[in-house]
Amino acid sequence: MTMADRLQKVMAAAGIASRRASEVLISAGRVTINGRVAELGDRVDPDVDVVEVDGDRVIVDTTLHYLMLNKPRGVVSTTHDPEGRPTVMDLVNLEERLYPVGRLDQDTEGLLLLTNDGELANRLLHPSFEVERTYLALVPGPVRRETLRRLTEGVELDDGLARPRRVRVAEEHRGKALLEVVMTEGRKHEVRRMLAAVGAPVERLARVAFGGVELGDLRQGKWRFLDRPEIAKLHAAAGTSVPATARTSDTDTEATS
Ligand code: URA
Repeated sequence: MTMADRLQKVMAAAGIASRRASEVLISAGRVTINGRVAELGDRVDPDVDVVEVDGDRVIVDTTLHYLMLNKPRGVVSTTHDPEGRPTVMDLVNLEERLYPVGRLDQDTEGLLLLTNDGELANRLLHPSFEVERTYLALVPGPVRRETLRRLTEGVELDDGLARPRRVRVAEEHRGKALLEVVMTEGRKHEVRRMLAAVGAPVERLARVAFGGVELGDLRQGKWRFLDRPEIAKLHAAAGTSVPATARTSDTDTEATS
């Protein structure tokens, strides 16, 4: 949340009522800011201003949460799907409103970060920060040297050049190859389109690292809070420092779902 937010947004974040219902409370004169009756359009800083509804203090939890999910195939990366498909939020049983840091395709599996630290999320996704994302792509094998060379030089796609920072064959076995591809941006279907363009159509795609944070052995469909070094890595990648209100897996050992 920014320093000064609309009063109804702060009230909604504190779980008082929906934004709309909070506006009704404000209009009815039931809300005060630092002892003065609030008006529609007022902004408050929840860390500084005292907001009361009918004389009861409104407490806003400004804790920042950072977690990783191992997204299975078939689950969409949005918080709500109008078509009713399972979303990543169905897998994260937390009260807090968290948002995925970017998206993975419905059929892509692996590391998805979720946070309510909007500033960090925006920076991590902005192409200018060139945050590394590592993917493992299962493709038909063997992969020719020429194919790797074309990838390293960059592949012209409809929306511009796609160029991995690094690419290598991690494994090759029985007509299949596992390519490790490191990208520094996240255009829609970029890895699939890029590999298809060099004759290596993706059969399975998984993200295994983002901004130096690794998926490790987290099981599919499970999530966990990031620890302090992981949160620090993300902030370093985004050029920011870890906020004092960050909750880490070291400060809370709550079991994951
Ligand atoms: N590139 C893709 O093609 N798909 C993803 O889900 C992520 C990167």
